[in-house]
Amino acid sequence: MNFKTLGEFIIEKQQDFPGSSGDLSRILSAIRLASKIVSQQVNKAGLARHILGGAGTDNIQGEAQQKLDVYADERFIEALNNRGNVCGIGSEENDEFIELNKEGKYIILMDPLDGSSNIDVNVSVGTIFSVFKRVSEVGSSVVLKDFLQKGTEQVAAGYVLYGSSTMMVYTTGNGVNGFTYDPGIGVFFLSHPDMLFPNKNKIYSMNEGNLQRSSKGVQDYINYCQEVDKKTNRPHTGRYIGSLVADFHRNLIKGGIYIYPATDKSPKGKLRLLYECNPLAFLTEQAGGKASDGRNRIMEIKPTELHQRVPYFVGNTDMVEKAEEFIAKE
Ligand code: AHG
Ligand code: MN
Ligand code: MN
Repeated sequence: MNFKTLGEFIIEKQQDFPGSSGDLSRILSAIRLASKIVSQQVNKAGLARHILGGAGTDNIQGEAQQKLDVYADERFIEALNNRGNVCGIGSEENDEFIELNKEGKYIILMDPLDGSSNIDVNVSVGTIFSVFKRVSEVGSSVVLKDFLQKGTEQVAAGYVLYGSSTMMVYTTGNGVNGFTYDPGIGVFFLSHPDMLFPNKNKIYSMNEGNLQRSSKGVQDYINYCQEVDKKTNRPHTGRYIGSLVADFHRNLIKGGIYIYPATDKSPKGKLRLLYECNPLAFLTEQAGGKASDGRNRIMEIKPTELHQRVPYFVGNTDMVEKAEEFIAKE
């Protein structure tokens, strides 16, 4: 095991930019802190509901009774607010963006608890975050255009996976690194340095219940994934957890593609451009992969609204390009 901690790593990276204000380091530390608190709650989610909640009183454990995605939202906002250098947060859990310190230079966009329906069945969930510099003037109120920036403007992005162990994986535009949490001592250690999608087209992940509601191109691509062909090592393996962070993380380590296409029920797909797709697209590109809406690079889409949805194809470059080929033909 490599004994470099996330804290040391953040400081070391900051030193690569002499004269830097340390703002980004403080933001990453705030995310680290909130993720430890959320991790602890996620780990005992079943207990809170079935044992403590069973005591029958209304509010025996206070905040633990709240739905965990609201709990996670509050903890991340509090932690980021405390550092003072964030001027606004857009969150999947809040209809409108939230203004924090007017003097702050940074904007956060986040999905505080991704895959939360999986909590009930003890399956991995996550947090996704994205960091931008504001475009409005420091000292003024934040405005919508601070939040509606293209993914290419991200200065950092990452996720926390609350899985069989808790991990934080992030990029500041100089590669992707993963840290595994040791809950006994409360420290994240660098466990996955310089993460890259392996050169293996192995896994496809899609909610195939939606297949007949998807376009012909998507149907043809899934058929292609299932076809038997020794030369290209097909069929690919189908894996779908239903927690984007967990599906993405597995595919990053093993090689694969995650798809959430447009369907006739959700013509823009289900996933959120700002909270889910852009941050994972930044990580993906930094790890040598590709993220697309089927035709266009995700990070070049100009957002028009906070909760905008977009079809999503993300993972190994070859696999995403193959899916795009089928879509171009439809
Ligand atoms: P969230 O819990 O933040 O609303 O996100 C759920 C998302 C994503 O995590 C997952 O990949 C997808 O919804 C699953 O959707 P389906 O149940 O439609 O497959
Ligand atoms: Mn989500
Ligand atoms: Mn969520």
